[in-house]
Amino acid sequence: MRCVLFAIALSLFSVAAAHAQFPDKQSFEVIEHGGYMASAADCAACHTAPGGQPFAGGGALETPFGTLLAPNITPDVATGIGAWTDEDFVNAVQNGIGHGGAHLYPAMPYTYYTRMTRDDVIAVRAFLDTVRPIRNEVHPNQLPFPFNQREAMTGWNALYFRPGLFKPDAGQSAEWNRGAYLTQGAEHCGLCHTPKNAMGGDENSRDMEGSVLQNWFAPNLTGDRRLGLGDWTVEDIALYLKTGRNRFDIASGPMADAVTHSTSHLTDADLRAIAVYLKTLPPGGASSEPLSADTPVMRQGAAIYLDQCAACHTANGAGIVGLFPRLNGSSLVQQRDATSLIHVVLAGSRAVATDAAPTGPAMPSFAWKLSNDQVAAVVTYIRNAWGNAAPAAADGAVQKLRTALPGNP
Ligand code: HEC
Ligand code: HEC
Ligand code: HEC
Repeated sequence: MRCVLFAIALSLFSVAAAHAQFPDKQSFEVIEHGGYMASAADCAACHTAPGGQPFAGGGALETPFGTLLAPNITPDVATGIGAWTDEDFVNAVQNGIGHGGAHLYPAMPYTYYTRMTRDDVIAVRAFLDTVRPIRNEVHPNQLPFPFNQREAMTGWNALYFRPGLFKPDAGQSAEWNRGAYLTQGAEHCGLCHTPKNAMGGDENSRDMEGSVLQNWFAPNLTGDRRLGLGDWTVEDIALYLKTGRNRFDIASGPMADAVTHSTSHLTDADLRAIAVYLKTLPPGGASSEPLSADTPVMRQGAAIYLDQCAACHTANGAGIVGLFPRLNGSSLVQQRDATSLIHVVLAGSRAVATDAAPTGPAMPSFAWKLSNDQVAAVVTYIRNAWGNAAPAAADGAVQKLRTALPGNP
């Protein structure tokens, strides 16, 4: 608040300076733009504890190596980043170097934010300077040995971090370049959607082919028609990112959060730009042969489906647009990994509610109704019925998720 008033006082003087070489951090436009970029980059998603003050830190991130807590990035001088220079800030956000030279873990998406312009990053800082300072000490590093050794990140960075600003492609339109800039930078879509190697680095040769995270599977976004967005139009993609739903799908889990906190706040022009860029990704990902309807697991799955699922998703899997997602021909259902499907069947899900589509229909939990082999059978069935084709779901994968998700029998 203090800084907002300060900004009002100074804004009279700063309008002319806003377009100068360095962004004027007190100008309204810069602060407003910084707020826009901070929501595009979804800084609050990780840097806010559940029910806590925005940006005050404490949000837990499960990584394959253990838990990290996101630090306090409010302007509190003692426990936040109030005492940081802009240089410190840029170094953390774009190079993964924290205060005092400590290496940050790439759970902080500096590997993506490195593509942002310096002006956009400074604008985010200007915006963060205006949020309420909160005293909240966070000890981010909860990792077990040896992963708690930050020095190891030097080697990791050498292997997997490709620092550098976004380089526009002169052969593409301004709209495409804007979409690529947002997707590869602030929006860090690949953090969830690009497969990871054993060390948690992006497998760049498999850009956007889908990846497991936090007991979900973030699907393939390439141009593949069965697995990816090949059949989605630019309008379908923009509508999904704005409202969390379209004629193909309804967002759940981490994507519901990404829509609510980030993409639904983007301008229509930026959403369109992202969609235009995604539509140019070449098809990627391996397809599989459908399982025959005669196999015992498909028969078992078909019976469970008619009994438990068809009332909402309809017998032929077409669903009801806007209410019950389509399973037949759905790319989400045919991903190489069934984690998201098992997750939804075990835990149920409430579809995302956005300003543009305020009520979210719900999917009930089947954790008590169906055993592991029954969940695996019905998931295998929807992945291979109606012309769908995808690997069978394993009973063991169902048990693993049952254990990982809270409150399951
Ligand atoms: C996907 C989760 C995630 C997102 C999104 C994210 N951060 Fe972080 N951030 C982290 C984690 C985790 C750490 C701690 C990493 C560590 O200690 O190695 C961190 C560390 C930081 C630090 C270093 C703070 C310190 O005290 O050392 C800064 C500054 C920071 N983030 C700013 C931002 C900004 C600004 C944004 C948005 C542009 C952002 N973060 C988005 C997870 C995230
Ligand atoms: C925090 C992780 C995360 C981030 C960041 C993220 N996604 Fe997702 N996304 C997911 C998950 C998980 C799903 C699966 C959701 C479901 O099962 O309903 C998903 C689903 C989708 C789908 C639906 C695909 C389909 O076949 O049904 C699209 C499109 C999509 N994301 C695009 C994007 C774009 C574009 C961005 C960046 C602007 C993005 N996502 C950022 C995790 C993420
Ligand atoms: C009462 C209605 C209802 C029943 C019964 C039901 N579902 Fe759903 N299902 C939904 C709704 C609503 C969603 C969207 C919720 C969301 O995405 O968060 C959904 C989402 C899904 C999804 C995720 C698809 C996507 O595109 O996001 C799958 C997979 C799914 N259901 C499978 C099943 C299976 C298998 C059964 C039977 C075991 C079943 N459902 C029973 C209503 C239902």
